[in-house]
Amino acid sequence: MHFHSSLLLLVSLTLTAARSPKDGADPANNLHFITKEVRDHIADNYISLWDGNYDIINSTFSPDFTMLYQDRFPTGLGNGSVLSDVDSRAAFLAFVQRGRAAFSQYEFKVVRKFGEDNVIAIRWILDAVYKGGFPLATLAPGASLSYNGTDTLTLDPSSGLVVEVWSAQDLMNLFHQLGAPVGTL
Ligand SMILES: *[C@@H]1O[C@H](CO)[C@@H](O)[C@H](O)[C@H]1NC(C)=O
Ligand SMILES: *[C@@H]1O[C@H](CO)[C@@H](O)[C@H](O)[C@H]1NC(C)=O
Ligand SMILES: *[C@@H]1O[C@H](CO)[C@@H](O)[C@H](O)[C@H]1NC(C)=O
Repeated sequence: MHFHSSLLLLVSLTLTAARSPKDGADPANNLHFITKEVRDHIADNYISLWDGNYDIINSTFSPDFTMLYQDRFPTGLGNGSVLSDVDSRAAFLAFVQRGRAAFSQYEFKVVRKFGEDNVIAIRWILDAVYKGGFPLATLAPGASLSYNGTDTLTLDPSSGLVVEVWSAQDLMNLFHQLGAPVGTL
């Protein structure tokens, strides 16, 4: 009898351990809250924010947003690159606004979107029309450009709001199309 109940306990512990990472039902992390609907809603909001809908910043990003991790940015002046320092929700909004400022059209198209638990990955194409403003860019104002990237968003398991963004984008392609110097080896 004693042997029997220990065995049942062991079986039940094993099942719990095997199940929780897959269905996201880990009560300690509240991951059960992050449904596909939540992920889709936040992904739509994220693209909408980049479309210039700045009002939804606080219903998309957590006040505890920590960091936009991304590749180093060429300065566009031919003297190397700078590290991203976007480390707060307000700084992220300013980053979006700075990005949009040089373009008269700035439209992200979602190519594919993937989600699991509290993480969303969005593969995008940016279709933009250059307005002007980058000091050494030779692209004529009014010309269009297009390049690709993938943004991965981590959501706070309790609120469902974005706490971290990892962005991998083809910056060499962007600067190439802008005709801006990135320096040479
Ligand atoms: C977002 O919240 C901050 C406070 O953290 C506030 O200063 C700002 O006005 C809010 N922005 C919008 C668009 O609601
Ligand atoms: C590049 O040159 C600009 C203008 O002279 C300067 O402000 C900036 O600090 C330089 N950046 C690097 C990474 O050397
Ligand atoms: C972006 O990716 C698409 C495939 O999704 C490809 O057809 C296109 O050439 C890429 N654009 C650039 C500028 O590399």
